[in-house]
Amino acid sequence: MAESNPVWLDRVKRAQQAAAERLGVDVSAMDPPRDGSAGPSQEAAPGQEVAPPPEPEPAAAAVASEAPAAAPPEQPAPAPVAEAAPPEAAVVEQEDPLQEVATAPPPSLVQSNGSAAAAAAERVAPVGRAAVLETFEEGQEGINRREFLTYAWAGALGLLTLESGLATYQFMYPRFREGEFGGKFPLGAASALPRIGIDPEGNTTGKFWLINTDEGPRALYMVCTHLGCLYKWEPSNNRFECPCHGSKFNLEGHYIEGPAPRSLDQFLIEIVQGGTVVAQTEDMGESISAPGTPGPDAEIVVDTGKRIQGKPKALSPAVEVAFVPGPDDDATA
Ligand code: FES
Repeated sequence: MAESNPVWLDRVKRAQQAAAERLGVDVSAMDPPRDGSAGPSQEAAPGQEVAPPPEPEPAAAAVASEAPAAAPPEQPAPAPVAEAAPPEAAVVEQEDPLQEVATAPPPSLVQSNGSAAAAAAERVAPVGRAAVLETFEEGQEGINRREFLTYAWAGALGLLTLESGLATYQFMYPRFREGEFGGKFPLGAASALPRIGIDPEGNTTGKFWLINTDEGPRALYMVCTHLGCLYKWEPSNNRFECPCHGSKFNLEGHYIEGPAPRSLDQFLIEIVQGGTVVAQTEDMGESISAPGTPGPDAEIVVDTGKRIQGKPKALSPAVEVAFVPGPDDDATA
């Protein structure tokens, strides 16, 4: 139960007394106050002697004596204040306490007219809807259900936006840095390339063999196209040979023989001049075209993130075709 304000109760009592004096009604016969106490007719101040109930009139006493013993005593008539048109003062005092809370003077005005303690004493503790509104305005308590759902939705939406932004950033940003496998390998000026026709140079970090041909440089992927073994360069045979199953490839990576299904894969090579790519390795469908002979000041860049698959062995120009003697050839030769 909300705590009663003694000032408000005193106002109610004084209003009741004023209305009773105007209408000639006994205040003690009115309903007890709202605070749940026994009321002025049943409760006395400490040290004050309780007045006995008034003696009934002789006629009324006679009637009472003649009435059946079981008949209950006549209850006092309801207060005429509620039935008759109430005086203006009584109407003002009987207004809803919530309205009084809403029309209470602002704290600033109260402080300007008196102390803060007096203002607090004058103010009635809000109850019901007024208490909820005051709590919401002052933010003294936690959030309600609607606010919680709003914050939860806002948080989920923000998290989804953040994840989408991170995914877009990872897609747009290169995943491999320069100089690591999967990224680009700047090899410097073209004058530093190995001479044409000599043994290839291995780059274990980039996992490619660098060769130089009349058509330009090539970067051969170090993994065999059969089952993924690392093949080796055999200078004595002037070819690449796989130690696992014996597949063989020539210096340009073309298939010669063995179980490998195709020629060696190659990485894309860019020839850069003045910051611009002027030529690069091209996939021609049935063959892989080298970028051509670069100028001495051009820069060579191998992009290990772009691998071009070797062509099927049936298209290899290095397949050793078995000799089939013709009708004019001497079979005994
Ligand atoms: Fe190279 Fe089989 S893995 S020939």
